[in-house]
Amino acid sequence: MRFTERVAVVVGAGQGGIGAAIVRRFASEGARVLACDKDTLRLEALRSETGEAASTVRFHPMDVGRSEDIRRMVETALGAFGKIDILVNCAGISPKKQFLEYTEADWDAVQNINLKGAFLCARAVAEPMMAEKYGRIVMLSSSSWRNGGVAGGIPYGASKAGIIGLTRSLARALGPHGITVNAIAPGPTLTALTQNWLPDRAKEVVAQVPMGRLGRPEDTAAAAVFLASDDASYITGVCLDVNGGIVMG
Ligand SMILES: NC(=O)c1ccc[n+]([C@@H]2O[C@H](COP(=O)([O-])OP(=O)(O)OC[C@H]3O[C@@H](n4cnc5c(N)ncnc54)[C@H](O)[C@@H]3O)[C@@H](O)[C@H]2O)c1
Repeated sequence: MRFTERVAVVVGAGQGGIGAAIVRRFASEGARVLACDKDTLRLEALRSETGEAASTVRFHPMDVGRSEDIRRMVETALGAFGKIDILVNCAGISPKKQFLEYTEADWDAVQNINLKGAFLCARAVAEPMMAEKYGRIVMLSSSSWRNGGVAGGIPYGASKAGIIGLTRSLARALGPHGITVNAIAPGPTLTALTQNWLPDRAKEVVAQVPMGRLGRPEDTAAAAVFLASDDASYITGVCLDVNGGIVMG
């Protein structure tokens, strides 16, 4: 129960993937959690699933592409719990196309959610965290930024490399305020985000993974709670690979 004194905001928890696993893990370790997503239907499913922990988990519909929604999310967390100690930003989209098929609108949509959304969320929680002189920000990158990119996901690959630069710069800016900023780069993990390609290529992908299996949302959740914990108080600006060895940095 290492998070009994802590308040976590988890963005992108609605589709039952990595964000939802992080919410479950925080709740099981005593944190008070604001679980956020634009998918309200699946947030409802998470709400009923968290059962006993539900009293410490609140659910908040929002669109990470809208700064007004992010402002309201922070107000909601502060109103419900009085402070924000931890932000984990899992919101992401990954439209798959050939390079020449991507439109400017596709590019903008991906950067808006995956990268600008991460910046806006970090900016919105930084002030209350600075007031407490304590904070943990965890960003979601991807193993694709290490392995040379994603030919079938150009805007996504760019956004996830951007997350690394954002993480490092924020780590420098916020360290003096007692706030750590780290990223996690998961390897291929079966979730709603990957269901349009990973099941068909699972055998081929697993063959490249020294640990011999695909990632599970719980693998990344374990890394996220570690980076959000006091055990990681002297770790900032890193990207933690959670990929079974498919790419080694
Ligand atoms: N699954 C993988 O293989 C994998 C690998 C590397 C990185 N990641 C990253 O992990 C994170 C979580 O992905 P996941 O695999 O759990 O997929 P997921 O689809 O379960 O999670 C992404 C979440 O973001 C939410 N979201 C999308 N647009 C939003 C918006 N505008 N506002 C609010 N929420 C929005 C979705 O509803 C969803 O709940 C993503 O950032 C993804 O890029 C996933």
